[in-house]
Amino acid sequence: MKRIYMDYAATTPVDPRVFEAMRPFFTKSFGNTMSLYSYGREAKKAVEESREKVASLMNANANEIIFTGSATESDNLALKGIAFANKHKGRHMIVSAIEHHAVLDTAKWLEKQGFEITFLPVDKYGLVDPSDLENAIRKDTILVSIMHANNEIGTIEPIEEIGKICSEHEVCFHTDAAQSFGKIPVDVNKSKVDLLTVCAHKMYGPKGVGALFVRKGTKIEPLLHGGGHEFGLRSSTVNVPAIVGFGAAVDIAKKEMKQEAERLTKLRDKLIKGVLKIEYSHLNGHPTKRLPNNTNFWFAFIEGESLVLQLDSYGIAASTGSACSSESLEPSHVLMAIGLKHEEAHGSLRLTLGKWTTKKDIDYALEVLPKVVERLRKISPFKRKWE
Ligand SMILES: Cc1ncc(COP(=O)(O)O)c(C=O)c1O
Repeated sequence: MKRIYMDYAATTPVDPRVFEAMRPFFTKSFGNTMSLYSYGREAKKAVEESREKVASLMNANANEIIFTGSATESDNLALKGIAFANKHKGRHMIVSAIEHHAVLDTAKWLEKQGFEITFLPVDKYGLVDPSDLENAIRKDTILVSIMHANNEIGTIEPIEEIGKICSEHEVCFHTDAAQSFGKIPVDVNKSKVDLLTVCAHKMYGPKGVGALFVRKGTKIEPLLHGGGHEFGLRSSTVNVPAIVGFGAAVDIAKKEMKQEAERLTKLRDKLIKGVLKIEYSHLNGHPTKRLPNNTNFWFAFIEGESLVLQLDSYGIAASTGSACSSESLEPSHVLMAIGLKHEEAHGSLRLTLGKWTTKKDIDYALEVLPKVVERLRKISPFKRKWE
């Protein structure tokens, strides 16, 4: 049976060119970056080259990039690091209601430690209203954390306007760009961002490596103490192969991102148009202010989980809600925040495209999906009740 991967927002395969770039750093240039001899120097040089690459794709300086173990860790470092370093100035933070759990749950944990959190609502497309943000900022606000692009519904937030407001109020601004980095332009200066989260495994790099951009002069405490790696902000022997892979993935994205975004936008829009022909189907997220590779729908009278399993039997790998919450029975907080009812959120399906998605794959999905939806509706107790 043919297998079609349509869950690129959960994770991506490693680009073979990235894998080749990483290979020598497992067995040949395996040194510890802290060692003075040539093995160590070789490893350190490779890490610093990757730092330059990651920095350049977001218009930052290399010494503002802290390599971490994941986007989750970068988010934790941003929120907790700012909280611990600035608590004498204030204890109020603002996050959007549709942040990834790595931000949301960290904010909730900080709440238990005595910080006050404002959870900013979004509109029906998932957009934060910058004037809501401005109204929520107080004298004791020390951090605003609003993501660049949402991992479930793909909506792209107005981070330039948000950054401008934060800068005018002299409040530190963090954005989680895990889903947007390497797919659409990210510029820390244009967006006046102080902290920015990225990771490699959403952009054809390896899992288990991320980075946090920390603008020079930002007061932040480390979470990991020890050998003083990463400018003292993340002690731990540096994961050289993964960081080299991250750099290689960034290099490729730099060259191919624009063209790939255009190609994916066409495929995305073809998929959306085709799916919306199915009766009682709806698009989640903004129709145009969305990631080039993201589609997310809800289908009345059916359950997303059944849909995912049925699609899997046709070889299509899709997701309901976000991959990270697939083990939870709670409806997605993102879909609830954009105003869906429980049963509507439960009938949601996310199909995310990537480098190896072809027009043929979209045609196949559009052939299979209506059949599967119809079959599930036939046996749906909700449908019968409604008729
Ligand atoms: C927006 C966003 N932030 C953070 C994460 C967590 O990334 P990681 O798996 O690297 O910890 C994800 C992963 O789904 C994400 O989409």
